[in-house]
Amino acid sequence: MTGKAIDKLSSAEAEKELDRLAREIAEHDRRYHAEDAPSISDAEYDALRRRNAAIEERFPLLVRPDSPSHRIGAKASEKFAKVVHARPMLSLDNAFSDEDVAEFLGRVRRFLGLKEGEEIVIMAEPKIDGLSASLRYEKGVLVQGATRGDGQEGEDITANLRTISDIPLRLQGKPPAVLEVRGEVYMTHKAFEALNKRQEKDGKPTYANPRNSAAGSVRQLDPSITAGRTLNFFAYAWGEISEMPAKTQSGMLEKFREYGLAVNPLVKRCETLDEVLKFYRDIETRRARLGYDIDGVVYKVDRLDLQERLGFVSRSPRWATAHKFPAEQAETVLEDIEIQVGRTGKLAPVARLKPVTVGGVVVRNATLHNEDEIARLDARIGDTVVIQRAGDVIPQIVRVIPDKRPRGAKPYKFPDTCPICDSHAVREVDEKTGKVDVDRRCTGGLICDAQTVERLKYFVARDGFDIEGLGGTMIELFHDKGLLKEPADIFALTEKPEKVSKALAEHRAALSEERRAAEGKDPVKAKAKKEDREDKVVENLMAAIERRRTIGLDRLINALGIRHVGETTARLIARHYRTIDAFLDGMKAENAREELESLEGIGGIVAEAICDFFGEKHNVKALDRLLAWLDVTPMAAPAKSSPVSGKTVVFTGTLEKMTRQEAKARAESLGAKVSGSVSAKTDIVVAGPGAGSKLKDAQKHSVQVLDEDAWLKLIGG
Ligand code: IVH
Repeated sequence: MTGKAIDKLSSAEAEKELDRLAREIAEHDRRYHAEDAPSISDAEYDALRRRNAAIEERFPLLVRPDSPSHRIGAKASEKFAKVVHARPMLSLDNAFSDEDVAEFLGRVRRFLGLKEGEEIVIMAEPKIDGLSASLRYEKGVLVQGATRGDGQEGEDITANLRTISDIPLRLQGKPPAVLEVRGEVYMTHKAFEALNKRQEKDGKPTYANPRNSAAGSVRQLDPSITAGRTLNFFAYAWGEISEMPAKTQSGMLEKFREYGLAVNPLVKRCETLDEVLKFYRDIETRRARLGYDIDGVVYKVDRLDLQERLGFVSRSPRWATAHKFPAEQAETVLEDIEIQVGRTGKLAPVARLKPVTVGGVVVRNATLHNEDEIARLDARIGDTVVIQRAGDVIPQIVRVIPDKRPRGAKPYKFPDTCPICDSHAVREVDEKTGKVDVDRRCTGGLICDAQTVERLKYFVARDGFDIEGLGGTMIELFHDKGLLKEPADIFALTEKPEKVSKALAEHRAALSEERRAAEGKDPVKAKAKKEDREDKVVENLMAAIERRRTIGLDRLINALGIRHVGETTARLIARHYRTIDAFLDGMKAENAREELESLEGIGGIVAEAICDFFGEKHNVKALDRLLAWLDVTPMAAPAKSSPVSGKTVVFTGTLEKMTRQEAKARAESLGAKVSGSVSAKTDIVVAGPGAGSKLKDAQKHSVQVLDEDAWLKLIGG
């Protein structure tokens, strides 16, 4: 349970809870940092910190000297030097079923325009459950080793990696002059058990699983500790490389072996979907006897030239996917169902569970998705349920165990009014398809305080405006005091520091009143000091808001909270339009929707949601009011300069050497904007056989027209 609602806490309760949270968070920090043995998920840890910060925001006078807010988060380790990866370390898309795998292969085939009967060779490899590392060899000598970090920047753990016997300090044979080998550091079950035994004997805490202990071991500041722990390494990919020694993934792994690197012995080239799935099942049955943890199987298109053509979507390659083993499950009791109202008005049911450990992590909450899901499960409060979690996804309820249902448990009735503003909550019907939406949404819109507040919270959140000190509780407070209704109001706060002060003071007075009543104490003595501190709070807040008046276009778009538009989509849009003016012009244009849809990664639903947003006058006006405060920095052009970067390109007619999707992705990766229609702003039209009206439009606007070969020549193959 998350505890009492913060706005219902008395100051005595808040004080007690801050004390409890400080101790609990310190303990989790210690487990994470010192032992790499967290007992809760990142999300749960974040929730604790958020609750602590929220209580502190409401009770600024109760902030403890040892408050967790004064310390950096558990994730940001400052222990090691940072290493910027020469090529980013990417992640993989997931497949959970045979159908997903078939769909992956289908996608690859369609992208490449393969004909029936043209087989595609797949390299299948066990997915090692450890931590990925990058090893940089120059002239065959190990010069640097780093963790993955956020994919762009990791930690320098060279000294520790040098102690792993699977990692050669000098490569054999004739490796390329520069070779960044990527792979997984892991701990075998045997080594893990021995280590835990030793820890226990020495009175030290034990690790939850081999992955945590491998992570903990390579992140020791003292390499002699790492050396005392048996770790292993499998190589499976590469980053920067001066020349390619092979043309396939399988060939590369073969070369790695020649260089003296450890490559997993079970990897297999597969020629058909059946073979791929057979490999998966084979590995699944051998899993328990392997002696190390794996959490699935990775499939990679074997030919590197095809990998190159397939490229990436967002942060994972189109040419690979991870087929995960089924999630781990556990039984627990559904204690309550809570309805949360999001910024789009969606009524989201959250299951509150009796805490239970699943796969080494304590789970307290699970998503119930929507009302149909609750009905499908027939989940009732008091029921014993089976829950599962896979990787980092939010835990889910799989089924109810009817035999364990308490007598008298009633079917759950989903509310048809908003628990916050009492407006009707309805399920919209799609006009075109006649389909009823799965989500029930509050119709309160702008009058629903939950939506207004959630939108504002989203606006100031980390991926948006990221305004330091302006957290959820402050937003709620200022909203309650009538100071905030829309994003522009946040910047208007800088012109009324006295009102902000007053709001905080009133808030404080109400709290001390409450406290005095609760404790019978006289708080007058400490008053001067408290006021000083409050002035500082206001001053810092004003400065933090002021700093965010300059904002990148991508962050701005994300912060608007348009339905279906998150960080990735916002970045795609920002990259395409580059400047706020171009974006706003684009949204006013008649072909707005078409242009959005022509962007790789943006589909019809997203384009429609964006157009709907700009179709609402009040949104446009609110945005105008916001922009009056802002200096929006344009999106930088992609680092790689190419003959087509910044150019607007239209493809028309049939392409013969690649599919339309591939052509578009390629052009975009070279910094071109790909559009669906020809106008005076178009720079190049690539026309294949059968081109029609677009070719005529090109002639009308005197736009350069190229055939496919000329285009390929221009972009260098
Ligand atoms: S390939 C561009 N191959 O899985 C693709 N990854 O979920 C780079 N992993 O971060 C990864 N075994 O830590 C690849 N045989 C394997 C792997 C593997 C484990 C991990 C790796 C990666 C994560 C992606």
